[in-house]
Amino acid sequence: MQEYLNKIDKDRLPEHIAVIMDGNGRWAKAHGKPRVFGHKNGVKSVREISEAAAELGIEYLTLYAFSTENWSRPALEVTALMGLLVETIRKEVSTLNKNNIRLKAIGDLSKLPQKSQNALLEGIEKTSKNTGLTLILALNYSSRWEITSTIQKIAQASKDGSVNPDQINEAFVSQQLATADYPDPELLIRTSGEQRLSNYLLWQIAYSELYFTDVFWPDFRKVHLYKALVNYQGRERRFGKTSEQLK
Ligand code: IPE
Ligand code: IPE
Ligand code: MG
Repeated sequence: MQEYLNKIDKDRLPEHIAVIMDGNGRWAKAHGKPRVFGHKNGVKSVREISEAAAELGIEYLTLYAFSTENWSRPALEVTALMGLLVETIRKEVSTLNKNNIRLKAIGDLSKLPQKSQNALLEGIEKTSKNTGLTLILALNYSSRWEITSTIQKIAQASKDGSVNPDQINEAFVSQQLATADYPDPELLIRTSGEQRLSNYLLWQIAYSELYFTDVFWPDFRKVHLYKALVNYQGRERRFGKTSEQLK
């Protein structure tokens, strides 16, 4: 682990890392256990990766915890995930405060069960003064939901006369998204071997580096994050320019 940590250039860390935490179900199955056992163990990885990101001085970490599509899962699994959310936030607030981590959320939160909303708002409130890592949970989130509701908002503002169509540029659109307060992630990590985006931060990752690993989320540890960062730092981010222009 130290080997990878030593290879990380602390001056070239991403400001924002986004993660698609995937593979809880398959991890559980491999252990001969029900899917929910995988989700419970996934919480350990959340704790560990948040701590690692905070220690490194990463500013934003956005974790995909529940997509708008995940409502289609068996009702028992959905209920268990919502229950786990409440339990985890209540349990973890003191650790978040100890690590100076500020909790935030993006997504259509009003559709979450009331108990989950309450726990979430309480967690956000109780950690709001922290100044270290901002940990953003994407809950009942999907990009198409976000972009559609943003278009509705802008269309309404245009109708009311509070925005003129020529004012609508990329920066303006970014400012209307659920992520308005955060920079775009430089790095997106997806665990479990799947290589797809599953409706996650589609606008924001336009120029992100994508990193896929076969490790299931409940097995994802600090060393795996360090490996991803070393890999990220080995890439040349060209933003449309030529390699020579960057020298
Ligand atoms: C990710 O693991 C957790 C959530 C989507 C909530 P999965 O539950 O998707 O695990 P797999 O992909 O079925 O293995
Ligand atoms: C994406 O994982 C959503 C979260 C990690 C919360 P899924 O497991 O739901 O994605 P698909 O359905 O395999 O694309
Ligand atoms: Mg999955």
